[in-house]
Amino acid sequence: MVRRTERKVKIVGTGMYVPDKVLTNADLQKMVDTTDDWIVSRTGIRERRIGAKEQATSDLALIAAKRALRAAHLEPHDLDVIIVANHTPDTPFPATACWVQAGLKAGFIPAFDLIGGCTGFLYGMIVAEGLILSGIAHRVLLIGAEMLSRITNWEDRNTCVLFGDGAGAVILEESKDESGILSHFWQADGSLGPLLILPAGGSRLPACHETVARKQHTLHMKGNEVFKHAVKRMGEAAEEVLKRAGIKKEEVDWFLPHQANMRIIEATGERLGIPREKVYVNINRYGNVSVACIPMALDEMQHAGQLKKGNIVLLDAFGAGFTWAAVALRW
Ligand code: ACO
Repeated sequence: MVRRTERKVKIVGTGMYVPDKVLTNADLQKMVDTTDDWIVSRTGIRERRIGAKEQATSDLALIAAKRALRAAHLEPHDLDVIIVANHTPDTPFPATACWVQAGLKAGFIPAFDLIGGCTGFLYGMIVAEGLILSGIAHRVLLIGAEMLSRITNWEDRNTCVLFGDGAGAVILEESKDESGILSHFWQADGSLGPLLILPAGGSRLPACHETVARKQHTLHMKGNEVFKHAVKRMGEAAEEVLKRAGIKKEEVDWFLPHQANMRIIEATGERLGIPREKVYVNINRYGNVSVACIPMALDEMQHAGQLKKGNIVLLDAFGAGFTWAAVALRW
């Protein structure tokens, strides 16, 4: 859908949190048959954060949320809705968003989780935009939080080098000026689901001794297939969203893609013709933190003074489902 209204929804606060524990490529070399050289050259990742034993996803989300509220000069009672995009809930139910609502001592506001693959945070932005523009909510707390270390097979070198834990949060409300979301684009192709999947633990394959023994409660991925689709779909989504916003690629100040693989980031940037210095990268420090990548990067950029008012920012993601989406916004 092309949105033609003049009204816009903007981000008014950002926050992030990553656990203290750093797992380096050198550490991984001691765990599986891999090398720092392979990981850096094939993925761009040098280290990632791993949550402590006693931490759950909502603990990470809660800290990021409090920081976003502080940045926006708001209190929990100012919120209307809480959405937490994630794949690693504290518990299958209640929703992680409900644990966050309790932790924040927010009012009795709706709180729900969103599963959208690594695209989940952008799906959440689009949902929040719709809630606000329709008048259902004035202010939405949107969090992307993940403890992928909990669903990683630490004996599988194909996947265990890729992921990390962390959380990013934003507060969205109606914009009173020119800044805000200019256009969005979101799609899915469920026929490709088996290429990136956590097979067991749901109604298809409930947890039992065999599923645990077969490590079916960990992430399974056909990496090279995911790679090809990611480059194609992220490129298409970014081009479409710029077209819908009437923005030329030269006008983009920041391209902030999902941080899954440095080679995907570079290939997408090249396809779009966006110079390297306008592409934000933090995969080297955090690995793939799924839905947390984009809000964590926004918070880092904001704190570093890299996001200037009026900047055109292009967000772009791809993930399990498959799902993909892009959002163009004026900061
Ligand atoms: N160390 C050393 N060798 C390795 C490692 C490792 N950690 N992992 C794989 N290899 C080997 C493989 O075994 C294979 O060896 P072989 O040729 O002897 O069989 C070789 O490296 C090549 O394997 P490929 O899988 O073809 O390697 P590729 O270049 O595709 O890189 C990777 C793999 C990094 C996983 C890449 O495909 C990728 O990033 N894919 C996309 C991931 C992604 O985008 N995920 C997004 C969503 S995640 C989410 O939704 C939660």
